[in-house]
Amino acid sequence: MRWNSLLFTAVVLGWFAGSHAESIQFPSDACKVCINAELYPPEIDYRPYRFDEKDCNSFQSSVASLLNNVIDDNGGQHNFGFLPDPSLCEATKVSICDITSSPEDELVLLQGWIIKFAPAFYDAVTGGKMCHPKYENYGLAVTVDSCGDLLAQPPDVANECGLLPPPSINCTCNTTTGISPYIVSSSFREEPSSNSQTALYCFDILVNKDILPSTCSDIDILRKVEFYAEQSLKSFVKSFRLSPNGGSPTTISPSWGPTGSNLLKASLYWTKDQATGASVCVEVKKPMTMLELCGGWKCYVYLFNPDLKCCPLSTSAP
Ligand SMILES: *[C@@H]1O[C@H](CO)[C@@H](O)[C@H](O)[C@H]1NC(C)=O
Ligand SMILES: *[C@@H]1O[C@H](CO)[C@@H](O)[C@H](O)[C@H]1NC(C)=O
Repeated sequence: MRWNSLLFTAVVLGWFAGSHAESIQFPSDACKVCINAELYPPEIDYRPYRFDEKDCNSFQSSVASLLNNVIDDNGGQHNFGFLPDPSLCEATKVSICDITSSPEDELVLLQGWIIKFAPAFYDAVTGGKMCHPKYENYGLAVTVDSCGDLLAQPPDVANECGLLPPPSINCTCNTTTGISPYIVSSSFREEPSSNSQTALYCFDILVNKDILPSTCSDIDILRKVEFYAEQSLKSFVKSFRLSPNGGSPTTISPSWGPTGSNLLKASLYWTKDQATGASVCVEVKKPMTMLELCGGWKCYVYLFNPDLKCCPLSTSAP
């Protein structure tokens, strides 16, 4: 069955190739090899992330260029090579395939290189940001399909992301994600500021319907936001711009926890409606950046309920 359908594909492809049609003859032992990147969303998907066209293009073109070069350099007998194909771009799976007519030679060659290139394949689909918070709680795997599963799976590089423990803050609240409906978007963005000396870094608030069983009181109100931020850099933080849903933005002065707490905070007292799609922007004096303030590679943000006993933690990065 499988061989027949491969042969059929080969014939159809050959037919579409027009002028090459006569010269391409797939032997019956043609073998299709696909390299995939697969995304496994968590059961409770607080911050839905899916592959987009850019992720797919980047994955397909990098895999094609790396593997086709190897095959060419080694005098491989590939008929088409790995060809980017938009029809293989799905929200949770992107793939690129090749049909080889000399399976043994090419598979032996590919096996070594697929293992060697695995980190590059992960980088290609994630834009080099495999440890970005958008993949938090997601599975991400580069896999290989080959005829008869002859090729071994590449190593699981994403596991190496690890999770550094969040910075210790002097706080007795429960930081579990999902114990209240509020969460900060996994990516924050830079917006132009009216002052040329500063930049605005904006964090969007998402409100989830699906939350964990929780004993947090008054979760219809988002009382305040706290950022873990280097307090020694305090002078670079100029203001907050708070933009509730359905309200006009207000600018307030930054406030900090006790010396050494490294907590930068703003009172919100937003209802769920006001919090839905709201943004909290931090105005930072250049050349300092939000990421540097946050300690280097991602920001830790806490969203508090009114009695301050619950402060689910979200991480966010540019
Ligand atoms: C934590 O905060 C309490 C009250 O704000 C303070 O008394 C205590 O010294 C702090 N502990 C540390 C380790 O900073
Ligand atoms: C925080 O809340 C979660 C969910 O309700 C609960 O499972 C967990 O035990 C709590 N943690 C602490 C330290 O109270």
